[in-house]
Amino acid sequence: MIRTFPIQTSNLHLRQFVVADAERAYENWMSDPDVTEFATWNPHRSVEESEAIIKEWVQLYEYGSLDWCITLKQEPIGSITAVQDFPEKRYCELGYCLSKDQWGKGYMTEAVRAVTSYIFRSTDYLWVQARCDSENHGSRRCLEKCNYRHVADIELPCEKRKGEIRRYHMMRIDRGDVIL
Ligand SMILES: CC(C)(COP(=O)(O)OP(=O)(O)OC[C@H]1O[C@@H](n2cnc3c(N)ncnc32)[C@H](O)[C@@H]1OP(=O)(O)O)[C@@H](O)C(=O)NCCC(=O)NCCS
Repeated sequence: MIRTFPIQTSNLHLRQFVVADAERAYENWMSDPDVTEFATWNPHRSVEESEAIIKEWVQLYEYGSLDWCITLKQEPIGSITAVQDFPEKRYCELGYCLSKDQWGKGYMTEAVRAVTSYIFRSTDYLWVQARCDSENHGSRRCLEKCNYRHVADIELPCEKRKGEIRRYHMMRIDRGDVIL
């Protein structure tokens, strides 16, 4: 079974969340409306809300969930998750976010590359996908830099925007596209 093992990149250390991360996670990104603008969730209004979600992630690790805390010099600065709703169909979907004061430094490109490679090494998945709102140019560019290609556009109602129909770019990288 795949696990959230630690991953070291040139600048970042990716590791499992611990409940004690809640305060820094809340301060650094979970409470920031700019970070959550294109996310499915609303900014958290209290540390307790962040703590509750992190507690859930921590409990799920033993079942093989993939939720990394992205740290820079030991400071939690973001998260990267691979949702495995249909492991038997041999793919998973990435989601990620980063503290605003760390945007534009290449960090998420570094994290996505590392996690993608880890997933292909640790599973028999055929591809990894990610979807980004069509206005989320930074996210699409980050995925392109990691060799994800645009495979489709989908339109879905966005719950947090009162059902507004949004267009999403479906991006994907196949096992054969990466050198392991
Ligand atoms: C999207 C996000 C993850 C990008 O992370 P990042 O670490 O800032 O990205 P990187 O520094 O690795 O940049 C990747 C590329 O995107 C470009 N980019 C970053 N933000 C951009 C923006 N707002 N508009 C256009 N391009 C942008 C960078 O310039 C870089 O391309 P380049 O090397 O050709 O110049 C980050 O902005 C974020 O956390 N946003 C909020 C949460 C979010 O939207 N998550 C994704 C949901 S699908």
